[in-house]
Amino acid sequence: MTPEQLSELHAKVSDTPWSVQSFEEQLSHENAVFVAHAQAFALGRVTLDEAELLQIATNPNHQRRGLAKQMLCDFEHLANVRGCSRLLLEVAADNSPALALYSATGWTRDGLRRGYYRYNNGQRVDAILMSKTI
Ligand SMILES: CC(C)(COP(=O)(O)OP(=O)(O)OC[C@H]1O[C@@H](n2cnc3c(N)ncnc32)[C@H](O)[C@@H]1OP(=O)(O)O)[C@@H](O)C(=O)NCCC(=O)NCCS
Repeated sequence: MTPEQLSELHAKVSDTPWSVQSFEEQLSHENAVFVAHAQAFALGRVTLDEAELLQIATNPNHQRRGLAKQMLCDFEHLANVRGCSRLLLEVAADNSPALALYSATGWTRDGLRRGYYRYNNGQRVDAILMSKTI
């Protein structure tokens, strides 16, 4: 997927979508971890022995078919190949689909950042911190 396609897909599922430029910047980092399918992707970054999942998304017309699960599996594999032993992420406390996905794939809750996210309508939502040892 190109940065343009990633940004287009992300705009379909996010209140605060990343721009084409943001995807270009993230993908250009030498420590970027990126896996993709025509209708889904996962993007993160390696720091020492940890990989942070920054974004994961599936086209709304293709959800609940196991694509995100596959992206997480591929992400984990790549992170492992890059020498990582731990995966990290932050997820909004009201994002039930993502929380269900992470629970179903072995991630556990580590903590909470109160009011971390601010939506376009001004609403503040907690961030749940999660990790997975690989
Ligand atoms: C979260 C998201 C990536 C899941 O993508 P997906 O391809 O539909 O997920 P999968 O089909 O791989 O789902 C795997 C499992 O996760 C859980 N799950 C996923 N979506 C769910 C939902 N809407 N409701 C309940 N459980 C869900 C289920 O356990 C599911 O297994 P099942 O379908 O056998 O019950 C997708 O909803 C999305 O793009 N959301 C918007 C972007 C986003 O919030 N990203 C996360 C940011 S932290």
